Amino acid sequence: MKVITTLGDMAEYILKLTHPMGLVPTMGSLHQGHLELINRSCSENVSTIVSIFVNPLQFLPNEDFDNYPRDLNRDLEILKKANVDTVFIPTVTEFYPSDFSTYVDVEKFSKKLEGKSRPGHFRGVATVVCKLLILCRPDYAYFGQKDAQQVLLIRQMNRDLNLGVSIVTVPTVRDVDGVAFSSRNKYLSNSERKAARVLYQSLLAVQEVKSSSVDDLKNAIFKSLTKEPLIKIDYVSISDPDTLEEISVVNKKCLVSIAVYVGKIRLIDNFLLDNMWR
Ligand code: PAF
Repeated sequence: MKVITTLGDMAEYILKLTHPMGLVPTMGSLHQGHLELINRSCSENVSTIVSIFVNPLQFLPNEDFDNYPRDLNRDLEILKKANVDTVFIPTVTEFYPSDFSTYVDVEKFSKKLEGKSRPGHFRGVATVVCKLLILCRPDYAYFGQKDAQQVLLIRQMNRDLNLGVSIVTVPTVRDVDGVAFSSRNKYLSNSERKAARVLYQSLLAVQEVKSSSVDDLKNAIFKSLTKEPLIKIDYVSISDPDTLEEISVVNKKCLVSIAVYVGKIRLIDNFLLDNMWR
């Protein structure tokens, strides 16, 4: 497995890679969700690059950049076992030199939902992903449906800037208790981890509601989430899955998204509801 740490080496290396080539951008601390993206890329491409870069631009000043889980040796072991051919681990100083001054803002998606609660976050995501796509020039890039808004934003950026990459969305991977895999799950205490199960339970509850009223659907989610005293709700949203515009009547496929705090840890989850008009 080739490990590349400089932008110059990567620029040279990609000229020799065999295509189709898949890129899996990550911030490390790899889990089953990442492995699903990696396995998809390895099975669909001749070459796969996995990037590991904890991107300071996408963390707000009060967020956990310094404490974000990092375990490079473990990540490299996992990637070796997964037969990944190339790992790209740029340094922050080379990726964002001190005079760095160009940012990508996907206005249509950067201010809603997660963007409202985490202003500036998506500018950081779009900028890092844009740079990675330009540097690595993959045919395919893989992202998880758990971060549904991130995927929409990256698809829009890819179209707007004519980057020409096929963006692949991979379904959310859940642990046996239904909790979606996320690097931040590591921060949860035992009782918080138990409480976190209610996110998926609330998404299951909404599927049982025989109504096309958004209020009825949201009430089912609130009822489920508020059973758990450790949970503080940030938002519950039912939106058009292509635009993220909030909808008032469910008469077509919609995206149910939730964001909560479990103690101090912020968790998100979502579900594509497509049985309401049957
Ligand atoms: O989803 C993530 O882990 C990050 O937002 C990404 C896409 C790797 C960009 O830093």
